Amino acid sequence: MTTSSRMNDFASTLAVWYARYGRELPWRDITDPYRIWISEIILQQTRVAQGYDYYLRFVRRFPTVETLAAATSDEVMQQWEGLGYYSRARNLHAAAQQIVAQGAFPRDYAGIRALKGVGDYTAAAIASFAFGQPTAVVDGNVYRVLSRRFGIDLPIDTTEGKKAFAALATELLDTHHPARHNQAIMDFGAVQCTPKRPQCLLCPFRDECEALASGRVDQLPIKSKRTEVTERHLVYLLIYDTDHRLLVHRRPAGDIWAGLYEPLLLEFPHTPSATDVLHHPTLAPLLAAGGTLTPVVEGMEHRLTHRLLRADAYRLTDAPSPILAQHPLLASFTPVDEATRAQLAFPRLVHRILEVNN
Ligand code: ADE
Repeated sequence: MTTSSRMNDFASTLAVWYARYGRELPWRDITDPYRIWISEIILQQTRVAQGYDYYLRFVRRFPTVETLAAATSDEVMQQWEGLGYYSRARNLHAAAQQIVAQGAFPRDYAGIRALKGVGDYTAAAIASFAFGQPTAVVDGNVYRVLSRRFGIDLPIDTTEGKKAFAALATELLDTHHPARHNQAIMDFGAVQCTPKRPQCLLCPFRDECEALASGRVDQLPIKSKRTEVTERHLVYLLIYDTDHRLLVHRRPAGDIWAGLYEPLLLEFPHTPSATDVLHHPTLAPLLAAGGTLTPVVEGMEHRLTHRLLRADAYRLTDAPSPILAQHPLLASFTPVDEATRAQLAFPRLVHRILEVNN
């Protein structure tokens, strides 16, 4: 911990940089914990450029924690549509109800940390930005800036590494201006000390940066594990009833797309051939009953952090209504017209497929 009230050199250099180059963003220079919380959840896994408009739309639609708590799950999911990591939206909604039940937004780190979907980083960010508490944030930007400036090669995905970086961030925190300091170090990582092509020649730390001195800028920070990317093969069946309405269902709890809508989905362990699709036990009875299958999309790729999805899609029309109604896998499906469809949230991959199909 810094014991003197004099700002450490790191913090003061950072503050000078921030005064000059810090970005003006709509969730800065405000102290409303609700808005700060929304912005931090959006920015957890989303870049500022993408999150900016989502933030503005979200707080316009749900200006207070009460309006968010009172919304339906479909309304919340629709505001989140396209942002990915949908558990964030589900947790936000649950936490809004938690806050309303408690009577007020929690004001200290422990109370904020206890909200659903709020981890160490987000709790520190809200506690400092909204309530001026001296809690240091540690996010991907902070790991990068500190590992490079101080030449730390402890892996950031180990307990030991996390502890060491958190301790250093706390030691360097400008305790008189924790909000400004936290915003500054994140901006510095996002704008100057970037993952690729950092601006080292123009960097205010260039004379003391250990990574720059030892030629390790590209190697820091270090991770002990590589993220494995697995492939999954999806086939969407766009089943239309005789009124040209698409059959969709809401994905149940259990994975990243829970709460979003989708057409009938078949999964394969490998790229399916036309025969695999035609003979699939789900599809065969629909075709036998007179359904017509038309290819819509082949091999559309969609990248998630740990997965590469490859999707084919077929349009299925002319299947008689009684056959659709009796199909066991379609029991939870509802036909939706275009107007209703526009009210529902779909994974971006499904949107892309529906755009091709229209
Ligand atoms: N990333 C996470 N939180 C942020 C913030 N408050 N400003 C800019 N980028 C961020």
